[in-house]
Order: sequence, then structure tokens, then C-alpha cells
Amino acid sequence: MNEHVFRFSPTGSKGTSPLLSVSGFAISLDRAMNAVRTRAVGRAFCSTANLGAGFDVFGLALNRYSDTVDVRITSGRRIRIVVRGPEGRNIPVEVGKNSAGPPAAELARKAQLKKGLEIIVEKRVPHGLGLGSSGATAAACTMVVNTLLDLQLSNDELVQIASLGEKAVAGTPHADNVAASLLGGFVIVYDRPIRTICLKPPHGLAVVVATPQLPVQSEKTRKARKVIPGKIPVKDAVLNLGRASAMAAAFAQGDIRLIGTGMKDQIAEPYRKDLIPGYDDVRRMGLEAGAAGISISGAGPSLVALVDGINRDPRLVAQAMVRALHETVCVQPRSLHGPPKGPVWSRRLSKCPGLTIYDASTATPNIQPRLRITDARNVAVF
Ligand code: HSE
Repeated sequence: MNEHVFRFSPTGSKGTSPLLSVSGFAISLDRAMNAVRTRAVGRAFCSTANLGAGFDVFGLALNRYSDTVDVRITSGRRIRIVVRGPEGRNIPVEVGKNSAGPPAAELARKAQLKKGLEIIVEKRVPHGLGLGSSGATAAACTMVVNTLLDLQLSNDELVQIASLGEKAVAGTPHADNVAASLLGGFVIVYDRPIRTICLKPPHGLAVVVATPQLPVQSEKTRKARKVIPGKIPVKDAVLNLGRASAMAAAFAQGDIRLIGTGMKDQIAEPYRKDLIPGYDDVRRMGLEAGAAGISISGAGPSLVALVDGINRDPRLVAQAMVRALHETVCVQPRSLHGPPKGPVWSRRLSKCPGLTIYDASTATPNIQPRLRITDARNVAVF
């Protein structure tokens, strides 16, 4: 083991090290200064990508589900991935196929690691719904291994490396989901090499995610990317540019109604909506019920509605989308459960066959990965 790589560097003045603060966890560098890192654990939340006009550019972190990644340095030179958890079924464990693998391999290469890594993924983000499941794993793994190997990479570098995990799963290294899961809040990912801008979502922004219960497809994102033509007309590019610019300005101003005006897409939506039965009706009914905007969530099949939760009732939007989905998929609607108890209704609203609906109205404020580090004696140091 290259000791330099695995030790905290003393920083700060007068022997006082600053705190490395990660979403509620503060890691004292003083306490950990001489600890050889052998293991780190972190988690990252799911996200919704695109938000209409921001195809491959916009992401929004959601606090509904998260993946936890536990990484240990091992003897030998192999990277081994183990997937567990309620959503761990059918997730490949090969390094080249699991979204944790390529980022871990790249970070190990950067650190010139002469050891192996064991990566245990506790999978809680459902995959195949359009909620950035592979992105959450890639983000958590990137953050954890970066910390474990003390690489101290910038946010932009971390996002770029995490996007390698998406390439393994979807065929292209899109970075919108991983950026949201890594950085939290509303993110804009752009340029080559990647740059990121991260904004705190407006107070009161409610997010409704409605998921038609279609059979989960293997390689769904890869397939959903293939339906998008390689070239788009200039007039469509202009429409998207205008809407995306308006959305970015609206997030900066905290204007939810204005954000909604950009949630229409000329690049992917016209082709992907055919994969979602009744898309136009669900969208229309959600808008009529008060959503500021509705689009496909990532590569689908979920739909995401952004709602001004102060002036509108997100439950009405959710119920309207539920009704439209029922009509579309021709299932016998059961009565909807009333609003869940408690202040947060971020729980399943309906158990009707044919759909699941989630609210993520508390999801947006600066969700960030959480991190725990263990030293050589296997003692948590946060
Ligand atoms: N921007 C990506 C896509 C997100 O739409 O293909 C996939 O979750």
C-alpha cells in the first residue's frame, strides 16, 4: 500500500484541521489525521434528469430513495462488487457492467492503487423507473472511493468520473443524474471537460413522480437513447435552448411557474413518449390539476411533475395523473388512499394496479451524499 495515498494530509493552521463536512456528517481531520483509511461508506440519493428541455444537462436530487456503498481496500488487485438490498435483484456485478465499477477503476488508477477494492452496494433505488438508479450507485461509489483514496478531486472531476458508470449501463456517459446525486439540489452539467452549476431549488417546490407499472426492461436507458435521432432540426434546437435557458434563470430566481414553462422537450420527448402509454393525457391532466410543468423523468417511464407546493396542492396533481394513467392502462382503479398521515406525504399514495405514485415534495433542498469513514482499526471517525 502506498501510505501517502491512504493518509489524511494535515491541513489548517495552528494544528487545527478544518472539518470535512458532508451533509450533516462532520469528519474531524485532526482525529483522523494519522488514520490509515481502509474503508469508507457513503450514500447518494436518486434523482430525476432532463426536466424537459434540459436533456442530458439538468438533474434534480430527490430524497425518496438512496443507495449506500461500502468500500474496503483489500489485498490483491481485483475490484469486486457485491450487490445487496431490496432493489439488488438482477443488477450485474461485473466491473464493466455495474455503474460502480468504472468510476472505482478510474479512481484506483488515478491513485495508483496497488491493492484491490471490495465494493458492497446496498441497492434501494428501484431501477428501470427513470429515477437515476445507476447514477445514485455511481455517485455514491465515486464519492466514497475518492475519500478512501484521499484524491481530493473537484466536484467537476467527480461528476466526470461518476459518469463513466452511466456509460457502462447506458452506452454513453451522460452526467445529469450523477451530478444531482453527487452535488444535490438542481444541477446544470455542461461543457467538455464537464462543468457543473448547482442551485438550491426554490422553497415550496413539490415534485410528483408517477410511474406507470410497465414491465421493467433490461437496458432500458440504452434503448431509450437509441430512439432519439442523431440530428435535430435547428428550429427544435432553438426551442430547447430557449426553454432550458428560461428554466435555468427561473431556478436562479426561485420562480416555480417559470420553471414549468421550460418542461417541454424537442429532443427526446417526441420519440420517447411513444414508449409511455397515454403520456400526452397524463401530462395534460397533471397540468390542468395545477402542475407548473410535467416531463418524462430521465429515460422514463416515470413522469415528473414540478408543483408550486405553496399555492397548489401536489396531491391533486398526483391524483389527476393517477386517474389518467388508470384510463390509459385500462386497469380497474381501486380507491386511492387518502393523504398519508404526518406532515410529509412522500410515501406511496396509491397501491392501484397499473401504477405507483410517489411524492418527493420534501426531496429537493440540497440533498447531498452522506459519508462515513473508518480508520485502520475499523473505528468510525466521524
Ligand atoms: N439524460 C439521460 C437520458 C438520463 O435521458 O437518457 C437517463 O436517466
